[in-house]
Amino acid sequence: MSRWRSKRWQRRMSLKLDFNYMMSEFLGEANGISADDLRGLREVAVKLHQELSEGRAGGNIGFYDLPYDQDTVEAIEKFAGKAIKQYENVVLLGIGGSSLGPRALHSALAGGQWANMADYKGRGKIPRFFFADNIDPDTFARILGFAEPRKTLFLVVTKSGTTAETMSQFLIVRDMLERKLGKNKVAKHLVAVTDAQNGRLRNVADREGLTNFIIPANVGGRFSIFTPVGLLPAALMGIDIRQLLAGAAAMDGRTKECDLHTNPAYVAAALLFLADRTHGRNIDVMFSYSDALFEVADWFRQLWAESLGKKHSLSGKDVFCGLTPVSALGVTDQHSQTQLYMEGPFDKVTIFLAVEQFGQSMPIPTLYDGLPDLHYLGGHSLEELFQAERKATEYAMLQAGRPSMTITVPEVNPFTLGQLLYMLEVQTAFAGGLYNINPFDQPGVELGKKLTYGMMGRQGFEQVREDYANRQPKQDKYEI
Ligand code: PA5
Repeated sequence: MSRWRSKRWQRRMSLKLDFNYMMSEFLGEANGISADDLRGLREVAVKLHQELSEGRAGGNIGFYDLPYDQDTVEAIEKFAGKAIKQYENVVLLGIGGSSLGPRALHSALAGGQWANMADYKGRGKIPRFFFADNIDPDTFARILGFAEPRKTLFLVVTKSGTTAETMSQFLIVRDMLERKLGKNKVAKHLVAVTDAQNGRLRNVADREGLTNFIIPANVGGRFSIFTPVGLLPAALMGIDIRQLLAGAAAMDGRTKECDLHTNPAYVAAALLFLADRTHGRNIDVMFSYSDALFEVADWFRQLWAESLGKKHSLSGKDVFCGLTPVSALGVTDQHSQTQLYMEGPFDKVTIFLAVEQFGQSMPIPTLYDGLPDLHYLGGHSLEELFQAERKATEYAMLQAGRPSMTITVPEVNPFTLGQLLYMLEVQTAFAGGLYNINPFDQPGVELGKKLTYGMMGRQGFEQVREDYANRQPKQDKYEI
């Protein structure tokens, strides 16, 4: 149950966006965004804001209002409250938007992979959590090896209810449960999260009486973290989902105005758009200086890539647009990627994710008096070193003419995470408008899905299978 939080606490937990190092005043004319260019987008912003608001009010864009769906919160809390005590393991079957959100929540707020290594008490009396998103048979077998069926709850998460990867895993699990536990126990170990009406999973869930939660029709997979796709796993991880939604609602309050100077989502989108269009910087690196937030960068990678990578504009013209999102981890990737970011092509913008206050403090002991190049570290702390390295990297990038902005969360908790995730969703929707494309569809992904159905012999997809076969090389000319 959610702890009450004062307005003062909420203000203190407010996320900050610092974009000084994007601007020409700091970065210089050649590499920075001019204040005039940013001002030049004001009118466009007003128009786009109006369109998005109309989409929201008309019920076409559903993600905006998810923080206020109290009925869903109550239903999830009721189910999760019991399930947490019943199961030792939860295995989530789902991919893309049906997995990356819960993964990010687990890693940020529930201890990630480390939580699974702790014993029941050590992980706060909550189940271990496994994500079976990929279908590599070696990994899936390993996960099933950990998850003793009698003590395991399987969440089958798919909006379409037809995705071959998730549904194949479902069939394997369904069969295993029946063989190992008997037919009448199957439903107790399965929960479906899917569309209210459409798709094969809906059909199976209704027929077999599975507990199920609904993904609203007007919310796309990658925008679904505040639906049961994210909330149900979060509640099963012991995360305070009311605080998560309160954070999202707080960010909704900040992004309801279209002023480019006060709306962090709009200004971030506008800067990335301008950096791309005026300076050819079409790669954005989300550089997380927090292990907890690293998977948020991964979640964002999908949100940004699938939403903005489009062939056609809204008027049907070929535009082939999109910014390539990359995720990086500070400081680890300073020893791997930073050389490229600093001296390679001028094609990147970096979005640093910073945390003001970590959960732990780790002082560095003062040892080795006679060795000054080791002794200087003593008396500081790991968190101090971590912050110093981030600031040093930000500044070094500025010196090298590389633009960056920094999103700072005061600490990693459900309230701040809710703000961050919601902000990135609004940013993505607005960026879609700037590029004049539809950020809510994914025709490129659909084609691959259809081809897979054809190859796997699904009825109605014979033609794509035949087309594929006809395009295959007749001889091994280019194969060695
Ligand atoms: O954002 C999207 O729509 C996609 O990434 C989907 O989430 C992904 O393809 C999985 O689809 P589904 O939830 O229908 O199984």
